[in-house]
Amino acid sequence: MGSIRAGMSATSSDSRVIALPTAAATEALGERIGAILEIGDVVFLQGPLGAGKTTLARGAVRAWTGADQETPSPTFTLAQIYDGPKGALWHMDLYRLKSADDAEELGVEEAFETAASLIEWPERLGGFAPEDRLDVALSIDGEGRRAALYGRGAWRERMHGF
Ligand SMILES: Nc1ncnc2c1ncn2[C@@H]1O[C@H](COP(=O)(O)OP(=O)(O)OP(=O)(O)O)[C@@H](O)[C@H]1O
Ligand SMILES: [Mg+2]
Repeated sequence: MGSIRAGMSATSSDSRVIALPTAAATEALGERIGAILEIGDVVFLQGPLGAGKTTLARGAVRAWTGADQETPSPTFTLAQIYDGPKGALWHMDLYRLKSADDAEELGVEEAFETAASLIEWPERLGGFAPEDRLDVALSIDGEGRRAALYGRGAWRERMHGF
């Protein structure tokens, strides 16, 4: 993994830091990610409360479905499922899960196989976390946000465009 310098766009081949000065920028990054997602892909959305995880997911849902539609936070439903031309996209928020067993009950393994997955609070997955994935770590940076992208496994190559 390469060094990370805040505000710079290029680090090493498998990680990037992107400045997000506005919520629109967070959504736009989500659209870029959503546009390259395929069935079987998993994206972890990491970062503290209010970091912009749901905002980024909103952009990804728009790219996946090809339509502007309501994208409620799955805080209480745990998962929202969206259909697009490629199939199903699961947007999950695992904040309220107590254990990895609850994640299994929610159907994460099914999602990983049959859908594309965006996951807020993925730390709750424990041993169910897949090794091939894109990690998007959001942090608060003054009035704006910052995203650190880490490509794991096959995502090392795929994230070169970012
Ligand atoms: N780059 C940005 N600059 C400024 N504000 C932003 C940015 N990205 C998102 N926000 C704002 O931050 C607030 C929280 O965003 P959001 O709900 O997406 O966070 P979250 O990480 O999903 O939080 P939670 O952990 O509670 O689910 C929203 O008001 C959103 O518009
Ligand atoms: Mg959220």
